[in-house]
Amino acid sequence: MKFFIAYASVEGQSRKIAETLASTIETRGHQAVIASAADRSEYTLERPDGVILCAPIHVGRYPSYFTDFVHREVDWLNTIPSAFVSVTLSIVSDDPAEREEAEGFAQTLMSETGWEPKVVHHAAGALRYTEYDFFKRWMLKRIADRHKAPTDTRNDYELTDWSALEAFAVNFIELCASESRSESLSQP
Ligand SMILES: Cc1cc2nc3c(=O)[nH]c(=O)nc-3n(C[C@H](O)[C@H](O)[C@H](O)COP(=O)(O)O)c2cc1C
Repeated sequence: MKFFIAYASVEGQSRKIAETLASTIETRGHQAVIASAADRSEYTLERPDGVILCAPIHVGRYPSYFTDFVHREVDWLNTIPSAFVSVTLSIVSDDPAEREEAEGFAQTLMSETGWEPKVVHHAAGALRYTEYDFFKRWMLKRIADRHKAPTDTRNDYELTDWSALEAFAVNFIELCASESRSESLSQP
């Protein structure tokens, strides 16, 4: 099967997540084409068997070029089995209201664009304190504190659960395989 993965990323973690998804797909004998959602020319391809979009939350929103991408491609996306990987910090919180906030970002995107992914996976992102400028470090420390994430700004933290991500990818591959089987059975 052929999969298309489009990602948005500001600090690099969502790109790393998208690349990990591509290698999980390829390790299982399928083809993965990966592109930045910012790169319009990169994603002209024949109908894939599955599409995965991956984007991070920065100050309460996905990058605008990513939401533009979903608005633009929604009709196409809704004809193919698709999945969304939403990358946040709030999903690691032990406060249910904050995890709900993380889930709400994806819900809002779907209701505003009309996109209907079959699966939504919430992945925790990263805190790269040593790479942030003074203001960003201060802001992220406050956000991390609210979500009970690490606040020692002398270190960087990767909070992504890679085995949960792999399990999500394997389930999605199976879902696409069964959709493609039922589609070929219904062909005259
Ligand atoms: C400037 C900035 C603002 C952020 N704002 C939020 C936020 O409002 N809520 C949240 O859950 N995570 C927030 N995060 C955490 C990011 O989602 C996380 O760092 C993620 O790994 C970023 O993905 P990227 O590296 O692909 O850009 C923020 C991160 C940065 C750097």
